[in-house]
Amino acid sequence: MTKGPIRRQLVGQRTLEGGGFPVRRPFPVPGCDQVDPFLLLDEMGPKHWRPGEAIGAPEHPHRGFETITYLLSGSMVHEDSTGTCAHLAPGGVQWMTAGSGVIHSELPSPEFLESGGLLHGFQLWVNLPKSKKMLPARYQGMTSEEIPRLEGPGYTLRVIGGEILGLRSPVRTEIPITYAHLSLGSMGRLKLPLPADQPTHLYPFQGQVTIEGNVVEEGTFVSLEALQAAEITAGSDGLECLILAAKPLHEPMVRYGPFVMNSRHELIAAIEDYQAGRLTDVPPS
Ligand code: CO
Repeated sequence: MTKGPIRRQLVGQRTLEGGGFPVRRPFPVPGCDQVDPFLLLDEMGPKHWRPGEAIGAPEHPHRGFETITYLLSGSMVHEDSTGTCAHLAPGGVQWMTAGSGVIHSELPSPEFLESGGLLHGFQLWVNLPKSKKMLPARYQGMTSEEIPRLEGPGYTLRVIGGEILGLRSPVRTEIPITYAHLSLGSMGRLKLPLPADQPTHLYPFQGQVTIEGNVVEEGTFVSLEALQAAEITAGSDGLECLILAAKPLHEPMVRYGPFVMNSRHELIAAIEDYQAGRLTDVPPS
């Protein structure tokens, strides 16, 4: 439904990912395979794992895009074929550019597995343009303390990627992109300037949001019309919301599982390279 500043709404669908990890997924879903250049948004959990039961994603490949994990609660360990081994704690971000190829695993940390607890976070896939699909793989990690944060009356804004309200993330991005997390207290209100040349999307994941007078329910991903600014208002329960913006690539996109390329031919090459052990320069340990 289109109304006022809202161009499109995608209701997040609950599904099980991988070995049975519960996610809420606005896209890709039947009828919407991407929100160019965003290929996937998964809200991981929130899921309370009992001791010894937490699961993650064991070793798997990627080529042609970036995966960004933002953890709100829980504890994970990331290992990849670039030699990176990183611990992800609440509030932390890992920004992985798969480029020409990476093999990685994302698993609950041994301590978290043992104790159990609440796991909640996000995985976002951002496509790379044709000219950058075969860049060498790169890993950038940020702890909660390293994420720029703006605290105002009744609100907190964390800038994970790009720039908003004059606050700039230290992450090096391959395409201009804005990725932020807005928290508003009960009935809190903020006039949010929107990036001029990047279509903006909001994902309220806790509490409903009112955008320029239009109510959007929790778990619904909304794409906004081009606006200079939007007045965002929380409901009585407050609001936790992701803000995403980027210019569409407008390139052919073909995907098969963890590979996203521009043509079927390149997709087959990616699968063959993976099967032949050529996907990465550094073989996984
Ligand atoms: Co992955």
